[in-house]
Amino acid sequence: MVIVSSVATIVGIAISLWIDWFPEQASTASDDIDLLYDVLLIASVPIFVLVMSVALYSVFAFRARPGDLSDGAPIHGNTRLEVVWVTIPFIMVTALAIYGWVVLDDIEAKKSNTLVVNVTAQQFAWSFEYPAEKVRSTGLVLPKDRPVEFRINSKDVLHDFWVPEFRLKSDAVPGITTKIRLTPSRLGSYDVVCAELCGIGHSTMRQEVRVVNSGEYDDWLAKKRQSAPGGGGAPPPGGDQAAAGKQLFTDTGCNACHTLADVGSNATIGPDLNNIAADAAKYGKQEGQSPEEYVKASIENPDAFLVPKFGKGIMPPTYKDDLSPAEIDTLVKYLLDVGGGEGK
Ligand code: CUA
Repeated sequence: MVIVSSVATIVGIAISLWIDWFPEQASTASDDIDLLYDVLLIASVPIFVLVMSVALYSVFAFRARPGDLSDGAPIHGNTRLEVVWVTIPFIMVTALAIYGWVVLDDIEAKKSNTLVVNVTAQQFAWSFEYPAEKVRSTGLVLPKDRPVEFRINSKDVLHDFWVPEFRLKSDAVPGITTKIRLTPSRLGSYDVVCAELCGIGHSTMRQEVRVVNSGEYDDWLAKKRQSAPGGGGAPPPGGDQAAAGKQLFTDTGCNACHTLADVGSNATIGPDLNNIAADAAKYGKQEGQSPEEYVKASIENPDAFLVPKFGKGIMPPTYKDDLSPAEIDTLVKYLLDVGGGEGK
């Protein structure tokens, strides 16, 4: 039995190390965390094999014989065995906890020249703010090799901010700011995902993070600043209302839930907005409102009027506070303008 268990242990460890469990490594924390996982695997396999060997052996050796219905011999403990099976796991778990703590402490050490990014989660989209740079965005763009501190918040329920290639993740909790620090170390494009079941659109809560070199990052910042709709306030006067509306639509994350051909979104969490002009005219009439009033009310108080097939509480009621009245007007105009159906 000892020989069989030893062989099973060696084979088990070899297989678990041979399988590539992890996604690409794109932050400086990835290496340490993957090594930690490997150590955990190496520590768990012998324990698993030992427990299963004893269990399988006992099932075979102490099985009931035909016709024998007597009880087994009464056993009252074995002090030496109990000391062993308490002490060894205690030492292992304590050592692994210390090892994990040392690794995390090292990863989370404060570094100079840290870029702060505020992350806001809501059903069902992420938005990012670079406070020092005065930029807001729905896409996350990070310069390679510069330490980042994410300050994570939620507007509604629990979410979980995670870029698997960066390894670290953290819950987004309403009313609390959680933090993670890491340094992106590999150019490329990855997914920001939500790792906490947060509602009907949980699986669509996925956005892009791009790790770029510092020149490209500066260009992106400059472009973002130029195209910001009045720096988050009123839309630019005159001409470019349509562009401002389109920008607001994606910056606010509307595209995460609604289909709208003009921005190329095809999400189905909320109503399709391609024919919103006709729909708003029809439903607005039933409610005694103009299309403008109907769309505005639907943004400010999503449960006021429900479109068939869509229940209460799907759309967050937070947009009234997040957007200025001017921004809401811009969105309403934009939607009625581009959501005119095929003929448009
Ligand atoms: Cu947000 Cu799942």
